[in-house]
Amino acid sequence: MSRRVIAIDGPAASGKSTTARQVAGRLRFVHVNSGLFYRAITWAAQRHGWIGEASRLCKGVAALDIEPEVRDGILSVRVAGQTPGAVLQGREVSRDVSAVSAYGFVRDRVLSLLRATAEVADIVCDGRDIGSVVFPGATLKIFLVADVKERARRRLLDFGGALSDVAIREEAARLEARDRADSTRERAPLRRAADAIEIDTTEMAPGDVVQRIVDLAAERGIEARTG
Ligand code: CDP
Repeated sequence: MSRRVIAIDGPAASGKSTTARQVAGRLRFVHVNSGLFYRAITWAAQRHGWIGEASRLCKGVAALDIEPEVRDGILSVRVAGQTPGAVLQGREVSRDVSAVSAYGFVRDRVLSLLRATAEVADIVCDGRDIGSVVFPGATLKIFLVADVKERARRRLLDFGGALSDVAIREEAARLEARDRADSTRERAPLRRAADAIEIDTTEMAPGDVVQRIVDLAAERGIEARTG
């Protein structure tokens, strides 16, 4: 049976994952970070030297063992028997992830993994194409945006890095490059679904964003699970 899905899409570092995790916590749904699958595949591709080698990447991804694991309402990804952890969020994986996730065979693999998780759990799923392609029938669709400088500032804070003007400018340039690649690819580009509700988080506190989404969910009959 297909369960309930809340889709949260948006550009890089717009706060999707943190928001999705907290909304999932409030509703007792499972948080599914779709970017984690693309990052895990990219990490494996880097280790095997498949980056820039389309046919090796295609064969490698087909044979790659990718296993979603749910623990305490949070999904992590085991790839080739390993859980890579924080390295997936690092700069090296971020550099290649948009190129890897543009391939149709990579997207098909992730799409079926995501749909399989929604068969067994109520989920809050964040990504780029969740409301538009993966779950077009989602009960609630949110599109999070924020000014790129503010996104860069938040990402640097996450990394514990310096917040100088230069560092913010450099991080903003990296985020914009990834947004451009994600928005202009042929397959499932980053795009707001027609029925998604846009929330600009530039000047919002994280808790207020979460509350707004929980309220919108309640308007659609989604309340916290009791079981
Ligand atoms: O958290 P952040 O915005 O940095 O990125 P993410 O959600 O972890 O996604 C990393 C990359 O995976 C994105 O830049 C996209 O290239 C790709 N991705 C995608 O193509 N489709 C999704 N549904 C999720 C991520």
